[in-house]
Amino acid sequence: MLKSPWIKVFLHLALLLPLLEECWQIWLLMNGMPNRLGPDPGKVILEDLATVAIWLLLLGLAITPAKQIFKISDLIRFRRMVGLYAFTYALLHLLSYLAFILGWDFRALWEDIVKRPYIIVGTLSLVILAALAATSFKAAMKFMGRRWKKLHQMVYLAVLLAILHEWWQAKEALSEPLLHLVIASLLLGYRLFHFLNKAFSVSKNQQSFRRAARKNS
Ligand code: HEM
Repeated sequence: MLKSPWIKVFLHLALLLPLLEECWQIWLLMNGMPNRLGPDPGKVILEDLATVAIWLLLLGLAITPAKQIFKISDLIRFRRMVGLYAFTYALLHLLSYLAFILGWDFRALWEDIVKRPYIIVGTLSLVILAALAATSFKAAMKFMGRRWKKLHQMVYLAVLLAILHEWWQAKEALSEPLLHLVIASLLLGYRLFHFLNKAFSVSKNQQSFRRAARKNS
């Protein structure tokens, strides 16, 4: 069922939905109609886009464990798409910062970075996500060979930096960053457990191979 091309169409629509809803709210606001953006619409838009970006990053991280636990190998077909949408929402989050908070005044950027150093952490996360998005295509995968996997493991760092960025700006309202941290820890912990398990069984196999070779010699 997951092989059907309609699944991808459906997923594109689902992933575009938060953006369409945001555009709808902006349209309502611009036409003087009731909307949910409140007295500081720029800040609400910035926060909404950030929330979608971080949840999509976590969803992308959950695909490999879900594939292994539920034995649904086709799930992997959607990992790149979810990752690219996470990057797109993060980029829109940056654009909304530049437009609504800075008002495109780049001279104010330095002052704002001094006032909110968590912006540097968010920028680092976004730079990593940009590198991953730029190399997410088959041609890049072929060209980079084994280095591709190493580069794409940087997504773990990008997620942790994004959570640190979110945590740092949250001040007192820590329940959401805490939830994100718990989910990311579970997903990264699952990978670490798998990695250690594999490394342990390889070294065990090597030991028994050496023992058998010694016996035979
Ligand atoms: C150049 C990069 C970035 C800049 C300039 C930036 C800027 C900001 C700013 C100014 C806020 C505070 C908004 C407020 O006052 O309420 C914020 C919050 C946030 N950012 Fe970023 N950010 C960047 C990258 C990222 C990335 C890559 C992610 C994750 C994928 C992210 C996720 C978040 C989250 C989850 C929040 C909290 C939103 C909320 O309060 O609901 N940011 N960011």
